[in-house]
Order: sequence, then structure tokens, then C-alpha cells
Amino acid sequence: MIKVMFICLGNICRSPMAEFIFKDLVRKEGLDKNFEISSAGTSAEEEGNPVYPLARSELERHGISCAGKRAKKYEPSDYANADYILAMEARHVRSILRISGDPAGKVHRLADFTPNPHDIADPWYTRDFPTAYKDIYQGCAAFLEYLKKTLPASSRG
Ligand code: 4NP
Repeated sequence: MIKVMFICLGNICRSPMAEFIFKDLVRKEGLDKNFEISSAGTSAEEEGNPVYPLARSELERHGISCAGKRAKKYEPSDYANADYILAMEARHVRSILRISGDPAGKVHRLADFTPNPHDIADPWYTRDFPTAYKDIYQGCAAFLEYLKKTLPASSRG
């Protein structure tokens, strides 16, 4: 089982988009039984709230549902229960380091798996949800390719 947790600030836009895009990708590859996939925010501001409507409708435009998701804050105890903690921005990486530390080297920035490492801009401010979707999709696809190259065949189901 590979446990992946996506992280942004509020857990109502980017990290839930990443959670449900990545769930969709692994399901389409028949790998869903190998993964536990979740998301959280470094801030408690939105805790308990559903996915922001424009993020939800962008996912729906791509045939992806995020029904039932509620925002959760990243807690120190989440660290032990993850293999990969994938942040949208460098500042989220710094927040994660303050909250849990990273003794096992689990924390990465999502788009660092792509040929174009970058922070994924916050669509809460840019209002550009299609670009957020594209950037997050590319990061998730590149991360899955990375896993497929590095994991032993025996753990791929
Ligand atoms: P997210 O976007 O970090 O991608 O979920 C944000 C959501 C809410 C706020 C900021 C960013 N906010 O300030 O409430």
C-alpha cells in the first residue's frame, strides 16, 4: 500500500483537486487497490468545509466527483501515516516542516516531479481553475510515472 497525502493551504481548492485527480488516474490504471490517497491543508481556516464550488465544477468538467470531501487540517500525526506528502507550494513545504518535521524525507512539492518544477498558483486568488487543473494533473501524472519507474513490480498489483 502506498499512502499519498496532498497538501495546500485551505484544503478546499488545490489539494482536493489533486486528491481526486490522482484517485482517478490510479483507478484508470487499475492500481487503486495499491493506494490510500487523501489531502489536507496547512491552515485550519476551512476545516470541515466542502470543496470550493469552482474547484468542484472544474473536476466535474473532467468527469471527476469529489462528493463527500471535507477540509481537514494537516496534523503532526498525519506524517507517520503517509509515504508521500506532496505540497502545492514551497511555503506549504515549510509549513509541513514546522508542523511535523520530515525525518524520513517524505515531503515533496508536487510539480517537482515534472520537467518544469514550480509552485502551483492558488486559484482562490488567480480565479484560473482550468490552469490549476492542468498544472495539478501534470504533477499527478508525473508523480505516478515516477512511482511506476521506482517501485518494484511486486508492489504494483
Ligand atoms: P487552497 O486555496 O489552499 O488551494 O485550498 C485556498 C483556499 C482558501 C483560502 C486560501 C487559499 N483562504 O484564504 O481562505
